[in-house]
Order: sequence, then C-alpha cells, then structure tokens
Amino acid sequence: MKIAVYPGSFDPMTYGHLDIVARAAAVFDRVVFAVLVNPRKSAPIFPTDVRLAVIREAVDECCPPEVSARIDVESFDGLTVDFCRKRGAKFVVRGLRAISDFESELQMAHSNRKLDPEVDTVFFMTSVENSYLSSSLVKEIANFRGDVTQMVPPAVARRLAARGPSL
Ligand code: PNS
Repeated sequence: MKIAVYPGSFDPMTYGHLDIVARAAAVFDRVVFAVLVNPRKSAPIFPTDVRLAVIREAVDECCPPEVSARIDVESFDGLTVDFCRKRGAKFVVRGLRAISDFESELQMAHSNRKLDPEVDTVFFMTSVENSYLSSSLVKEIANFRGDVTQMVPPAVARRLAARGPSL
C-alpha cells in the first residue's frame, strides 16, 4: 500500500491545500493530512484540535466519499520523517505555488531524504486558481474580518466567522 504524508501547519487550511490533498489521493492509496502541532510561525489562528476538526469536516464536505475515505487527518510533533516512519509512509506530498516556493521546498526535500533515504518527496503544482493563496494571507484578512469565502472551504469559513469579536 502506498501511503503519503501531507505535512503542514494548515493554519488555516485553504482551497490550495484541499486541491493538493485530493490530487494526491488520486495517486496514493492513503494520504495523511499531518498537522504540525507547534508551527514555527506566528501564533496559530486555531489550536491544533480545531485545525484537525476543520480539516476533517472540509475534506468530508468537499471531496467525493471514495476520496475522503482515503484521507486521514492527524497531528504530529517533531520530525516529518519520524511521523512518516510511524505511519508506514514512504512519500511526503508538498504543493508548489511558484518558483519562490522552490528553494525552501528543495532544501526541505533534501534534508528529509538525508534524514531518511526511504522517504521521498512528491510535488504537485498548485492549481492556477489557487496559486496566489497562502494561510498567512488568509489569516491576515480574517483577522481584519475580511471575506475569505473564496479562499477557504466552507468549514473553515464557518469556524472563522464563529470566532468572537476580539482579534
Ligand atoms: O505549512 P508549512 O509551514 O509550509 O509546513 C512546514 C512543515 C510542517 C512541512 C515543516 O516545517 C516540517 O516538516 N516541520 C517538521 C519538522 C521537520 O521535520 N523539520 C525538518 C524538515 S526540513
């Protein structure tokens, strides 16, 4: 069975992430959406448990049942390759939006391969309509109460809208 791990902060998940995971699910038998518990970035907009619940909801709502059934949603802390080993995954999936993503992704793919030569990274080019999207952009717009409904799945938009008035 070919298992792939799709790691990231997903804070919050966007339509870009949903597109990548659905396309990865067409290639691999199982894809694990792996939510990093402690991202290096700024304070998360959603705690880990909410990110997990929202991703599960979005996948179930937006993907056909036969696709959603092959996507797991889990959290991890530590190295991506250690999580891959734990899940029996030999592949890491990442999306590439633009050439500017390439350098850091290349570095990460090589580092992961040094750490575990059995784990290879497979890149999917982000669909053109999602190529401008990033979680940090969505986070900023959402923090100013802007409309992000074209950028994130409804489950994410609902959860953002349900936040209290404080930023
Ligand atoms: O959502 P992001 O920030 O693009 O995801 C980055 C992520 C989570 C894939 C990366 O930071 C990561 O793999 N973190 C886990 C720690 C690790 O394995 N570091 C070495 C990889 S270079």
